[in-house]
Amino acid sequence: MASTNDTTPSKLPFPVLTAEEAAAQVQDSQIIGFSGFTPAGAAKAIPRAIAAKARTEHEAGRPFKIGVITGASTGESLDGELAKADAVLFRTPYQSDKHLREQINQGKAGFFDMHLSIVPQYVRYGFLGKLSWAIVEACDVTAEGEIVLTTSVGASPTFLKCADKVFVEINRKHPASLRGLHDIYEPLDPPHRREIPIYKASDRIGSPVVKIDPAKIAGIVYTDVDDETKPFRESDEVTKQIGANVAEFLAAELHAGRIPKEFLPIQSGVGNIANAVLGAIGAHPDIPEFELYSEVIQDSVIDLMLEGKIKFASGTSLTLSAEKLKLVYDNFEEFRDKLVLRPQEISNSPEVARRIGVISINTAIEVDIFGNVNSTHIMGRNLMNGIGGSGDFTRSAYISVFTCPSVAKGGKISTIVPQCSHMDHSEHSVQAVITEQGCANLHCLDPKTRAQTIITNCANPIYREGLQAYYASAKGGYTPQTLNLAFAMHQKFLETGDMRDVKWD
Ligand code: COA
Repeated sequence: MASTNDTTPSKLPFPVLTAEEAAAQVQDSQIIGFSGFTPAGAAKAIPRAIAAKARTEHEAGRPFKIGVITGASTGESLDGELAKADAVLFRTPYQSDKHLREQINQGKAGFFDMHLSIVPQYVRYGFLGKLSWAIVEACDVTAEGEIVLTTSVGASPTFLKCADKVFVEINRKHPASLRGLHDIYEPLDPPHRREIPIYKASDRIGSPVVKIDPAKIAGIVYTDVDDETKPFRESDEVTKQIGANVAEFLAAELHAGRIPKEFLPIQSGVGNIANAVLGAIGAHPDIPEFELYSEVIQDSVIDLMLEGKIKFASGTSLTLSAEKLKLVYDNFEEFRDKLVLRPQEISNSPEVARRIGVISINTAIEVDIFGNVNSTHIMGRNLMNGIGGSGDFTRSAYISVFTCPSVAKGGKISTIVPQCSHMDHSEHSVQAVITEQGCANLHCLDPKTRAQTIITNCANPIYREGLQAYYASAKGGYTPQTLNLAFAMHQKFLETGDMRDVKWD
C-alpha cells in the first residue's frame, strides 16, 4: 500500500502541487470546506495561497471571494489571511480572528453563527450549498484514498465526502504514526439515524482513517508548519479564583451526592479561563480522577493526564502549545490509549452528552440576574466569536456551569447585568454561574431567588448595590423587570464608556 509515509511521493497516483498551483484551481464564489477546529489541524499553505490569488484578482479588477466552512475557528493563515485579502464571501460556523471579526461586524463578510455539532448534517443536506473543494491537512494518505488527519477532525470527514474535489496538505510536522488517534464515525441521516453507540468517553466506534474515492484527490501539497496555536496567558488572581470556585462547587455537589462518587465526564470550553478551571478541578483533593468528553483538548489536560488526574480525553482537536504537542508525540505510545479525536458531530453530540452525563463548563460574555447567558455579542450588537460548542453541551449537560470574571475592561463593564443584551443560553439550561466573587448554584430556584443569589454571590461589589437597586425597583410578575431600565447599564456604557453610576429612578 503506497502512502505519503513512503519517502518517494511519486508512488502515489496524485499530482504533487505547490500551494500556488492548488490555489490557481480555486475559482471565485466557490464554497470550500477547510480542515481545522481551532488552529489545530487547520489547512495553512493553500488558504494562504488563495488569499494571495484574491489580492491579485482584486488588483486586476476582478471579483474573488469564497465561501469558507470549517470545523470551528482556525489559524492566522486561514481566517486571518483570507479576511485581510477581503476574500470571504461567507463564513461559518465559528471564528476568533480579529481581522475576520472586523469584516463581519462591518458587514464585509457574511457570517452564520451555528452550533458546531450540526455543521456536518447541514453540509450533507445542502443547507450550506455545494462544496467545490475540501482542503484538509493530513499526516498520511494512501493510494486507496485513506486519509489520516492531524491534530483535529472537526467536520473534515463530511467535507471530504461531500466535496467535488479534494486537496490534501501533508504536514510533515505530524508523524504518520498518528493513525489510530482518530475515531471516524458518521451517523446515518434522519429519518434513518440510529443511536450513536458511545456509552463512555473512551468508547471507539469508527475507523482510524477517513476513506474517500481516490479519484477525487486533485493534488497533494507538502508542508512543514506548526499549528498556529496562541500561547496561554499566565493565570492571574481572578482566573485562579474562578477555577477554585468551580472546583469547590463541584466538590460540594459530589459531597451532597448530586454528582455520583465515580464523578462524571467534564466538558470544558476554550481559552485561558477554561484552562485554569480544569487545572483547579484536577488539583482539588476531593475530586477523584475523571474523564473528559469535550471538544478541545488543551494543555492543562495533558498536564493532568501526567499527574494521573485525567484518565481519558475525548475531543475533536488537540489544541496544544508546540511544546506540549512535542511532549505528546515524543511519548505517543503512552498517550495513544488515553486520547481520541472524533468528528465534531460526535464529540459535541447532544445525544451523547445527555446519555453519559457531561458536566459542561463554558465562559460567558455576560450573564443576567435571572441566569440567561450571552456568549457571543458585545453590547448586543457586535459579534465576538460565536456560540461554538457551548450550546451543544449546555442544553444537554447533567450540570451546566458558566464562568466569567465579574467585570471586564478594568471595571468599566459589569458582566452581571439586569438583562442580557443578547441571549444564547436561556435560564432553563444554566445551573450555575461562577465568577471570582463566588458561585450561584441555581438548581431548581425560581427567578426571584435566582436574581438574589446571582447579585449577592457573583456580582462585583462595585456593581452590587446598583443591581440591587434595579431589582428593588423591578415591577412584579413571576420574573420582575422594569423594561425601560433593563438595559440602563449598557446604555450608560454606550454613552460614557463606563457602566457605573446608573440612576435607577
Ligand atoms: N462586554 C464587553 N466586552 C467583554 C465582556 C463584556 N461583558 N466580557 C468580556 N469582554 C471582552 C474582554 O474584555 C476581552 O476583550 P479583549 O480581547 O479586548 O481584552 C474579550 O471580551 C475576551 O474576554 P476574556 O475575558 O479574555 O475571555 P476568553 O478569552 O475566555 O473568551 C468568550 C470569552 C466568551 C469570548 C469565549 O469563551 C467564547 O467565544 N465563547 C463562546 C463559544 C464557547 O463557549 N465555546 C466553548 C465550547 S467550545
